[in-house]
Parts: sequence; C-alpha cells; structure tokens
Amino acid sequence: MSIGAAVQMGLIYVNPEGVGGKPDPMKTAQEVRETFARMAMDDEETAALTAGGHTVGKTHGNGDAALLGADPESAGPETQGLGWLNPKQEGLANHAVTSGLEGAWTTHPTVFDMGFFDMLFGHEWELRKSPAGAWQWEPVDIEEEDKPVDASNPSIRHNPIMTDADMAMKVDPTYNAICRKFMADPEYFKDTFARAWFKLTHRDMGPKARYVGPDVPKEDLIWQDPVPAGSTSYDVNAVKAKIAGSGLTVPELVATAWDSARTYRGSDMRGGANGARIRLAPQKDWAGNEPDRLAKVLAVLEPIAKAAGASVADTIVLAGNVGIEKAAKAAGFDIEVPFAPGRGDATGEMTDAASFDVLEPVHDGYRNWLKEDYAASAEELMLDRTQLMGLTAPGRTTSSST
Ligand code: HEM
Repeated sequence: MSIGAAVQMGLIYVNPEGVGGKPDPMKTAQEVRETFARMAMDDEETAALTAGGHTVGKTHGNGDAALLGADPESAGPETQGLGWLNPKQEGLANHAVTSGLEGAWTTHPTVFDMGFFDMLFGHEWELRKSPAGAWQWEPVDIEEEDKPVDASNPSIRHNPIMTDADMAMKVDPTYNAICRKFMADPEYFKDTFARAWFKLTHRDMGPKARYVGPDVPKEDLIWQDPVPAGSTSYDVNAVKAKIAGSGLTVPELVATAWDSARTYRGSDMRGGANGARIRLAPQKDWAGNEPDRLAKVLAVLEPIAKAAGASVADTIVLAGNVGIEKAAKAAGFDIEVPFAPGRGDATGEMTDAASFDVLEPVHDGYRNWLKEDYAASAEELMLDRTQLMGLTAPGRTTSSST
C-alpha cells in the first residue's frame, strides 16, 4: 500500500482526483481507509469527517495552474514564505487555484447542515474536468436552486462537485451504509463528527493533563491513552532493595526498563513508561520486547510492586535504576540514579490496542537491534529514535555510554 498522501499542492489525505490521478472511487475508498486508519480513525469516524468537513467551503481551481508562481520553497523572499502567487487573484475567491478542482459540495456551503448527504445521494454523478483541468464529479442533472452560489457573486450559481474521495462515501458499501445511518439520524451524525473532529485536532497533544482552559471535556477518551495517577507515598528504598535481591540480572533489569520507556514519542507524547502498557497487549508480544524475558521479569516485579503499594510502572523504572547502580558499582562507582515516583498502571480497557501497533519498535540502536533489514541505515534509524524520544546530543551520548 502506498503512503496515500496527495500528489497535488500539499493536500494531506489522498489524491482528490483518484489514486495516481485516475478517478476510481472504489480504489480511492481503500486509500482513504488506509490513510485515516494511520490516524487511528475507523470507518465511521472517517465518513463523518469527510462528509462533515466538506459540508462547508469549496475547492479552488478556477484558472490555469500553470500561471501560478513558484511553490513556497522555491519562491523568492519577497513572497514572505507564501508562494503560489496568483497573478489573476484580484483579492477574491473567483480565480483562486489551489487543488485544481473547482466548486462547492453543498447548496449552502457556509452552513453546517445535512447538505453533503442530500447532494451526494440525491444525484447521479459524472466525471468532468474543472477549469484548471482536474478530474471532478458533477451532477448529471440538478435544479438551478439546488446549486451553490458563486463565492464572490451571489447572483451566479455553479454546479456542485464531489472529489473521488467524496464519491467513495457513496460507492464503497461500508461507507455507504454509514452515510445512510447518518442521514437517518442527523443528531448521531453531528455527535460523531464533533467527536472525530476533536480527536483529529487533539490526538497529537498527548495526555489529557496537558489540556488547559474551560472547554476541556470531562469525559476520558480512549485515544487519550488514559493512565490513572499512581502512589507517591511508598518506600522507594525498600522496593529497590527487594529488586536488588530478587535474583534478576543487570541486563534483565535494564533492558526491561529501557523497553518500557523507549516507545515514548516526543512528537505526540504517546508511549513511554507511564501506564506500564509494556505488560499489556500488544506491547507484551512485540519481538523487540523479547516476550519470554519480559514475562520472566514482570513475574518478579509485579508482586514486589503490589506488596509495596507502588505501581508496576514505577517499579519497572526502579528496576532499571537498580540495574544501572549495580553495574556502576561493579565498575567501582557509587551512584544513585534520580527518581520521581507517581506513574500509574493502565488496564486493557484503558488501552486502544490497535492504535498502539504504530508504536512498535522495529529498530533500536541503543540495544543494537533491528527487526529486519531496512533501506535506511542503522545509524539513521538510531537518530530517528533519538529524536522521537526527545533526547538531546548530551542525553544521547550519556545513555549510550552507560
Ligand atoms: C477524505 C479525504 C479528503 C480529501 C481527498 C479532501 C480533499 C479536499 C480538496 C481537494 C479540497 C479543496 C482544496 C482547494 O482547492 O482549495 C478540500 C477542501 C476542504 N476540505 Fe477536504 N478532503 C478530505 C478530508 C477532509 C476532512 C477530514 C476535513 C475536515 C474534517 C476536510 C475539510 C475541508 C474543508 C472545510 C475544505 C474547504 C476549504 C475552503 O473552503 O477553502 N476535508 N478537501
């Protein structure tokens, strides 16, 4: 499966004209499904977002794309980073060219209503070319009063349009059934859209604790990777002493703590040691976590955590600290690794297992490990992990030398 990214003007989802620029809504449906699945969106969320998003606004392709200036990267400093200068723009929307498709989706494109469904399901659609030469779907037959008005001159009306991805919502049987459910229950559609929109715009903000302001929803949502707060009042040194006397080896202690921490992504603040999700599916079965060794170590650490009133998450981190302190001592150095308690343990019910698949480490230079051979070099992959974990240059060199 290809990346599914658009090939035109930096659109972020799929090519609106069809896969490889060839209109075919059934094929496009598969790319839409794949692209949105990578954002942890299921079919219902995807249909709600596409239909809801395209209820308002319009596409822009009323002119010759060849007349546009250079793209932002190639344009001169006088464009102030904007690029795509349009000599015919006149300060209005009428000659705007962005995607190359031209037209609105609904009769009232400035109102959030059920107009997208009325239009898509109320007409037969045929392929036409926009003024900029892009493939778009237009109704075979439509009453004049059902057409949207021109964005700049309300006395003129134009045909509405559908992208290939919009047509996928009608042609693909699963999306079709979902759209019909929405049409029969507009309140359900609005709620599904609102939830999916909130998810789309907040998924990369990390844990809910990072939200601020009066509009923060009270409800916990599974995609926020909720983790309950853990105890901070247990006897840390007693836990460390038990770990030190448990018979687990330094590599077992350190590797488990590292594996628990290394899923952390600074890009969206997912993963990491908090929650101790390394003991849950899917992480407990990932090849990089060496499931047999992991199960052995957890079988020792979990009872220690329970007896002390500490979270397993904290106990795994402490195990790493004990391992490093032991190794340092063997080399003649007496050190104490700093520690802050309070991590919590997530349950399976708090874990959107499928959305964790994308965090699976398939390479880890810090453990000298590659799941398979990749086109990128091991050194580049190591830098990628370093950057994702938010390690600075000093942080990286320190951790590789300990
Ligand atoms: C299914 C994949 C999608 C495709 C292929 C797609 C494609 C497009 C295209 C080609 C345009 C016209 C851009 C232009 O010419 O200026 C557009 C505009 C727009 N899209 Fe999407 N889109 C998708 C999903 C979404 C989603 C998920 C949302 C939000 C929930 C959304 C909201 C909008 C809005 C509001 C506009 C109008 C912008 C304006 O009026 O300037 N789209 N989309």
